[in-house]
Amino acid sequence: MAQSLPNPHLALMENDKLHHLGYSTTEDLKALFGDVKFVCVGGSANRMLMLTTMLHDEFSIPLPATGKPENICKTERFVMYKVGPVLASNHHIGGTSVTIVLHELIKLLYYAGCVEPIFIRIGTSGGVGIPPGTIVITDRGYDEQLKNQHIVTTLGKFQVTDAVFDKGLAEEIQRHHTEKSHDVIIGSTLAIRDFYEGMGRLDGAVCEHGEEERLAFHRKLQELGIKNIEKEATSMSSLCKRANRQAAMVCVILADRLSSDRIQLTPETYKEYNLRPLRLVTRFIKHRLEQACDGYEAKTD
Ligand code: URA
Repeated sequence: MAQSLPNPHLALMENDKLHHLGYSTTEDLKALFGDVKFVCVGGSANRMLMLTTMLHDEFSIPLPATGKPENICKTERFVMYKVGPVLASNHHIGGTSVTIVLHELIKLLYYAGCVEPIFIRIGTSGGVGIPPGTIVITDRGYDEQLKNQHIVTTLGKFQVTDAVFDKGLAEEIQRHHTEKSHDVIIGSTLAIRDFYEGMGRLDGAVCEHGEEERLAFHRKLQELGIKNIEKEATSMSSLCKRANRQAAMVCVILADRLSSDRIQLTPETYKEYNLRPLRLVTRFIKHRLEQACDGYEAKTD
């Protein structure tokens, strides 16, 4: 059974237009999206293209005549691809942007009658004493006050919400780690609003602190058990939890910020690191589908 959503106003709307995805409830959303079981989101449009190209191959679903997955987002704001039971969309950078696309994806699949779809963010991050190339699956999000919470601002009021991901789902994804080249760990993630001053970097257009303060801050993060830093952990975990949707976040580390705040990877290493979480999530999805005997022709490893 499709899960309900905690918004009584939706039932009263004659036509819900999903402004940034371009779909509306006047269309047959069940026919278009009713089979979706997994939603993968990631900041970069190209990462979503790489993921869905990989999934076409894994599910033996031929690519369109163009040779690449078809972008089915109906606006220029985001990209969206569908490969069998997987929907993938980019979300650009930050909590504001990821929640816009998540509100619409959650509603889209609700209107399509999807049964318990799983939402997974696949991203990149900075490490806190963890080497580049490691994958972190987030259990808790910390906000800029270094609290395990997400503050939602509505109608001029602050509401403190939980910023936790589904523990069982994180552990299940971790069990699909098979590659010897790197570790996959479960840990807490700091979500900040800004790549430069917010992350305490020294290389923004403006910087009012020095390396010693930067290092002291990152040591404090390490003491709190924070493994990596990005920008969406708190907003995504809070929204999915309040909407009662299962969610996970799987991010590869591009730099260890206890050594340096600069990302110093060759293009080849950068590409390889970007592919690591895609391969892990693909193995998890394939396994779930095989268990459900869903008829998607997932190849064996
Ligand atoms: N993404 C981030 O948010 N931070 C980094 O340091 C690298 C990627």
